[in-house]
Amino acid sequence: MIKVDGLSKRYARTVAVDNISFEVQKGQIVGFLGPNGAGKTTTMRVLTCFMPATSGTASVAGFDVQEHPMEVKRRIGYLPETPPLYPDMEVREYLHFVGQLKGIPKADLARRVAEVSERCSVADVSSKLIAKLSKGYKQRVGLAQAIIHNPDVLILDEPTSGLDPKQRVETLELIKSLKGDHTIILSTHVLSEIEATCQDVIIISKGKVVATDTMDNLTHRLKGSEAVAVEVEGRNGLELATADVQRKLEQVSGVSRVINKVEGARLRFEVESLQGRVVRAEVARAVVESGWNLTELAPVSVSLEEVFLQLTESKK
Ligand SMILES: Nc1ncnc2c1ncn2[C@@H]1O[C@H](COP(=O)(O)OP(=O)(O)O)[C@@H](O)[C@H]1O
Ligand SMILES: [Mg+2]
Repeated sequence: MIKVDGLSKRYARTVAVDNISFEVQKGQIVGFLGPNGAGKTTTMRVLTCFMPATSGTASVAGFDVQEHPMEVKRRIGYLPETPPLYPDMEVREYLHFVGQLKGIPKADLARRVAEVSERCSVADVSSKLIAKLSKGYKQRVGLAQAIIHNPDVLILDEPTSGLDPKQRVETLELIKSLKGDHTIILSTHVLSEIEATCQDVIIISKGKVVATDTMDNLTHRLKGSEAVAVEVEGRNGLELATADVQRKLEQVSGVSRVINKVEGARLRFEVESLQGRVVRAEVARAVVESGWNLTELAPVSVSLEEVFLQLTESKK
């Protein structure tokens, strides 16, 4: 449904997207994951015909974005990073307006506005001014405008950014419910966001695709090793030497690395395991057997930065 081949985009001084290629099959929901500045928005702008590529090609439903922009636009619903909302319009009025722009026949317009309002759970605020809506509602109105012409493809640029945790979950649920009717690409810089939403993931960093994989494979690969935060103190107020504790943790079977995170009097460490090893129980035993108190033992979630490190290192 979407095919990107050797696509590059150069701004005056920056190469924002550097020779990327990927494909998205019909009906899929794909996460486009990368840190800020990776080139996600740029790629999406090229795909939605907002901007020409410097080189390479991209096509949607078989139509090249450069040669047939009208055909492409007809088949794409786009939610930019900042939704194109008019604060002074009421929700229904705004959706009517967008529907007209997108060429929905007059006779169908009211029905279609009602349908997408229902679908995106904004029907209850139809006659409210957009300016008065919460961020979560605004984002859902943004989604409603993106799907109003029933496009084959949805391109959603960081649709959960700026939302609180509850709104994030609701928005992701809504996006997930749109799968099936639409092929969806959704960008984010937060890995955990798309774990439950996307089947496939394309990871982009510094303008290059560093991995394309199924979400299952990716999480499996990443969860092969774990990191735990450990905090230790001496019994009965006894002072401990940082080096002693660090050495002890390093000796635990399955531990690959111990990072010193000592803050003042708090003896904190991050303990990383070898691939496929679970070390939490062993770490706890080592601490207790040394006659120390274990004041914290918690998993550390894998950050996006570590994901990139792992992915780029394993390629070398
Ligand atoms: N209009 C622009 N002019 C010049 N440089 C830009 C422009 N838009 C983005 N960039 C640069 O291109 C790179 C990729 O940006 P962007 O596509 O917005 O990344 P992302 O959406 O992943 O955060 C960044 O280095 C950014 O500074
Ligand atoms: Mg962006």
